[in-house]
Amino acid sequence: MKTLKKIVMGLTLVFAGALFMAFALPQDKKMGGPWEIPAKYKDMKNSMKDDAGSLKIGKMLYTKHCKSCHGGKGEADGPKAGSMKTAIRSFKSAEFQAQSDGVLYYQSFVGRDEMPNYEKKVLDDEDRWSIINYLRTLK
Ligand code: HEC
Repeated sequence: MKTLKKIVMGLTLVFAGALFMAFALPQDKKMGGPWEIPAKYKDMKNSMKDDAGSLKIGKMLYTKHCKSCHGGKGEADGPKAGSMKTAIRSFKSAEFQAQSDGVLYYQSFVGRDEMPNYEKKVLDDEDRWSIINYLRTLK
């Protein structure tokens, strides 16, 4: 009986250890380095700037294309965010919002690595700027 008890204890410990590894330890995501933005994007003009009507369209398109990873409030907590190897920065941060519209445009539609390219999914330039305008409301 003593040996059986030991075996059961041992197995319990191994099981608890595995559970701890799976859930309690932080998932190690790598932080993407600084974005290299080509010069032609940096100073791009937002053709929908100050267009209040664009926010509704922006929100709709964000919900359709972006929310699954970036989350409803831009805090990178969408259902697909967990499976990404790269950490996603919050759209709420002052650091993120300090970037120019053109930089956000490049990140949003050209993308890199795990951030998908949306040039073929969001074709209309006014739609693209509407999404950027919506990202500005998430701060
Ligand atoms: C499949 C998940 C996924 C979807 C869907 C997605 N993104 Fe991303 N996004 C990412 C990841 C991962 C990063 C971080 C990439 C990196 O740093 O290399 C990122 C980064 C960004 C960044 C730069 C912020 C940062 O973390 O450096 C912006 C802006 C952005 N995404 C906008 C959008 C927009 C707008 C959409 C919808 C049109 C969208 N994303 C859809 C995964 C996604």
